Amino acid sequence: MSKKTIGEQYLDDPRIEQAQKLIQEALAEHSSHITGVKAADPELKEEYEKTLKEFSEYRGGKLFYDYVGSGIGKGALVELCDGSVKYDFITGIGVHYFGHSHPGVVAAEIKGSATNTTMSGNLQQNSDSPKLFKLILDQANKYGAGFDHMFMTSSGVMAAENALKMAFQKRSPAHRVVAFEKCFMGRTMAVSQITDKAAYRKGLPPTLEVDYIPFYDANDHEGSIKTAVSMLEKYFNRHPGDYAAMCMELIQGEGGYFVGNEEYFKAICDVCKKHEVSVIVDEVQTFMRTKEMFAFQYFKLDKHVDFVNIGKNSQVCATIYRNDHKPQPGLISQTFTSSGAAINAAYYMINEIANGGYLGDEGKIEKIHARFKSNLEKLNQKYPELIEGPYGIGAMVGMTIYKGDAAKSKDFTLKLFNNGVLSFIAGSSPTRVRFLVPAGAVELEDIDKVCEIIETTLNECK
Ligand SMILES: Cc1ncc(COP(=O)(O)O)c(C=O)c1O
Repeated sequence: MSKKTIGEQYLDDPRIEQAQKLIQEALAEHSSHITGVKAADPELKEEYEKTLKEFSEYRGGKLFYDYVGSGIGKGALVELCDGSVKYDFITGIGVHYFGHSHPGVVAAEIKGSATNTTMSGNLQQNSDSPKLFKLILDQANKYGAGFDHMFMTSSGVMAAENALKMAFQKRSPAHRVVAFEKCFMGRTMAVSQITDKAAYRKGLPPTLEVDYIPFYDANDHEGSIKTAVSMLEKYFNRHPGDYAAMCMELIQGEGGYFVGNEEYFKAICDVCKKHEVSVIVDEVQTFMRTKEMFAFQYFKLDKHVDFVNIGKNSQVCATIYRNDHKPQPGLISQTFTSSGAAINAAYYMINEIANGGYLGDEGKIEKIHARFKSNLEKLNQKYPELIEGPYGIGAMVGMTIYKGDAAKSKDFTLKLFNNGVLSFIAGSSPTRVRFLVPAGAVELEDIDKVCEIIETTLNECK
């Protein structure tokens, strides 16, 4: 056995394990009272409304949902400060993949919180960081992709910024990028120019030159490929050497749960390679949600992409890249990478997904999708005028209701919230209602219950 540092001895101290057990016991006891959807407690109403009002004033605008959590939940259920209990099928837009108060996640967080610093950063990282880097890179290289490096950062959009900076530096003096119509990449000054939504860049000075190609259309496979290839060729030949990167979301999230295609993506990557344009894959929403750990693995693009950005489910955010795109000193750095609690929770969750029976054709993610899909298909057969779909893949499930009407879909999500289910809207023309299912916590029976509430709400809103 190799010599242990004082820190290792401290973290192996049985009292740390005891503390984990004690908190897990308290959690199990209290969360056992959370058994299903529950209406708000009238006695808590006044105080809750006061909190919501104050909070809205502090933050300069009303919350989308009247949601302030009490700090506990059980599986896919969460308790709010008004005493209500709801099914969380949006999970902070795809963050709480193991639901609420998961004992394994809490134990990992306790261990991370027991270390000497609150936040790790580029100048100071503990031994949990290299362990997590290895796990993520090993997973990314599962099918021989050959990624060499990873840079950890504080948000999904910063992972995108860092990938863009590395691509621009490598392709300097290139100054343009290409992206898919309806894509979402984040909201910094640079990236809000790529995200294809006018409202998100209203009033901002242009910082990047961006051209768009249409996303894959499953109803026109050959046509999609032909259009994408010919538009890219046109752009790249019109402005030779000016393009640094092609930004790809493989399954459009905010855009409305449109799923891409292997042949389509490979054709795009081939054109990019020919013209020396780097390929950036944004997996901030898709990471851990398909039957493969990464969506680029699902679409077999292991050898085709230069960067992969992850966030949300991964708890920490990161840019994964190859040695040939390694930045020169000074280009990327950041004070904060992440907290010890998040780094340890990330390790726990990613390891569970990799080794706990989630992936593959027979894995839990496919089972979740199949159950949700069959429930929504039944609703579609029963109410063809109210609901279409489902759409999406794995733990990303969407539906179109009321023919994709934006106002009615939003109203539906608010009523669904009141009835006990958290969802969210995505896309425009059509607007869709989407669910980011907490695969690490959900039981298949939860999906049935959620679909019963969806049916009740559909009928209430029509
Ligand atoms: C595909 C995609 N990329 C990037 C982002 C930005 O991530 P963040 O909000 O953590 O900056 C998001 C967030 O929704 C996303 O869905």
